[in-house]
Amino acid sequence: MIIKKSNRLVLGNWKMHGSILENTILLSKLRNVDHSLHCDFGILAPFPYLSQVLTILHGTKICWGAQNISMYNFGAYTGEVSAAMLKEFGCSLVLVGHSERRILYKETNLDIAGKASAALSLDITPVVCFGETLDEYNSKKTFSVIESQVSSILELGGKSVSRMIFSYEPVWAIGSGSAASPEYAQDIHAFIRGMLHQVGADSIRILYGGSVKASNAASFFVMPDIDGALVGNASLVTDDFLGITKL
Ligand code: 13P
Repeated sequence: MIIKKSNRLVLGNWKMHGSILENTILLSKLRNVDHSLHCDFGILAPFPYLSQVLTILHGTKICWGAQNISMYNFGAYTGEVSAAMLKEFGCSLVLVGHSERRILYKETNLDIAGKASAALSLDITPVVCFGETLDEYNSKKTFSVIESQVSSILELGGKSVSRMIFSYEPVWAIGSGSAASPEYAQDIHAFIRGMLHQVGADSIRILYGGSVKASNAASFFVMPDIDGALVGNASLVTDDFLGITKL
């Protein structure tokens, strides 16, 4: 699927949720939508369900991907999943550097850059996530944290970065039910956009994530530098998710 900046993108991150039965119901509803009424959208599923996603969504305009990727191509890396494996299951996207992986699994900026590179090597679009924790927010370190996270990805060069999607997700807004204000998110997105300009990757999409729902998504989408949303909880309920993609 060709992703153009002019089209809004909404991605559902299922995290560690789902079952074969629940997914069948959700995916079957998604595959039947009238795409002329929705923006570009896709889902990021747990590894074991990628085969099911491929079977149900194959031939539709919906894109899908995984929530993690190995930075290595193959070898003795127990528990890891390579870019080539994701490719075999039709993944066109992969999440990289989600805060839950940075914090719970201690992924570093260097790991994240390695994973983004591995994805690009097989034409899988990395959706690279950035965001400050509550402590960093409270101690007014947001811009310096974002700057260091984004800089390490920009080191891969403008040509590579132009093939990515970025997502700003303030950690304190994730799963809290209470999103950042659209104005606050816009300020951070504009800051990231300025950094992207320095490497000539001006036009990539920057999504906002953190308690996005159908009731607040439109207020983000009107912001000039917010090109869509990365949705957690609301992506697990078909009508809630489609309520966001239909705006
Ligand atoms: P919520 O939408 O549940 O806050 O999750 C956001 C997120 O982490 C998406 O990657």
